[in-house]
Amino acid sequence: MRVGILGVGHLAATLVAGLLRSGLEPEHLRLSPRGRAQELANRYGLAIAADNRGLVDSVEVVLLAVRPADAARAVLGLPWREGQVVISACAGVPLACLDVAPARVVRAMPLTAAEINASPTACFPVLAEAVAVLERLGPVIALASEADFEVATVNAAVYGWAQDLIRRTTEWSVEQGPEAEAMRRLVALTFVAAGRLMAEKPEPMAQLLDELVTPGGITELGLDVLSAGGQPALWETACEAVLARLTSPRGGPAR
Ligand SMILES: NC(=O)c1ccc[n+]([C@@H]2O[C@H](COP(=O)([O-])OP(=O)(O)OC[C@H]3O[C@@H](n4cnc5c(N)ncnc54)[C@H](OP(=O)(O)O)[C@@H]3O)[C@@H](O)[C@H]2O)c1
Repeated sequence: MRVGILGVGHLAATLVAGLLRSGLEPEHLRLSPRGRAQELANRYGLAIAADNRGLVDSVEVVLLAVRPADAARAVLGLPWREGQVVISACAGVPLACLDVAPARVVRAMPLTAAEINASPTACFPVLAEAVAVLERLGPVIALASEADFEVATVNAAVYGWAQDLIRRTTEWSVEQGPEAEAMRRLVALTFVAAGRLMAEKPEPMAQLLDELVTPGGITELGLDVLSAGGQPALWETACEAVLARLTSPRGGPAR
């Protein structure tokens, strides 16, 4: 299966790295011109299509990674054909805005961890051709409706907030004395551990937390301090702000 990337910017650079790392042959990956196309073509030995028409003509699956405001215009009037699949990564851009008939289109929200094949990628609707590409970048999580997919897209912002927490916890620790490299690794892998336990254990999440939060212990102490400062209500307000942006009529310029 040949894969084309339409819109070669920051996200595309991680998708290219992840697809090649997964074993996709460079001759099966093609880029649209503009952006970082020349840089990535030079680095990985990839072909750049002469234009977007040429890209669409030469591949079976197109990953759309232009900015949300450019998405509808970017796909309009291209030579889409039966059997082709478009995977739109454009945050907040509804399927109805992407006129690619007679090709089919799905929405997906890969994270930049695609670069290391570790992106949990929300997807709607599920098409086998799209899943075959996205699974190269990490586990694919199917959503049941486009409205559900929009809610799941908020998680792409939470991914950044989690990284911000890792950075802040590391920096705070280093100010107290420990060595930076050790703390970065410890804190980052602690977030991995927290996520893996929640993803892999079947028990209800509340039960897992109950087992962790000893009455009078340090986890409870920190949660009480956070609660007095506005958590978790503040976190929910941030999630709601992102969802409101994603579902506003002009679409969300989320990244
Ligand atoms: N960044 C992330 O972590 C992330 C994660 C998930 C989803 N997304 C989604 O991915 C999309 C891209 O985000 P980004 O951060 O990678 O943006 P970006 O760095 O600005 O990249 C977008 C690229 O698309 C190019 N482009 C625009 N219109 C084009 C067209 N008609 N033909 C060919 N190329 C065109 C732009 O070229 P010019 O610079 O020449 O205009 C630019 O190089 C967004 O819709 C975003 O919602 C991003």
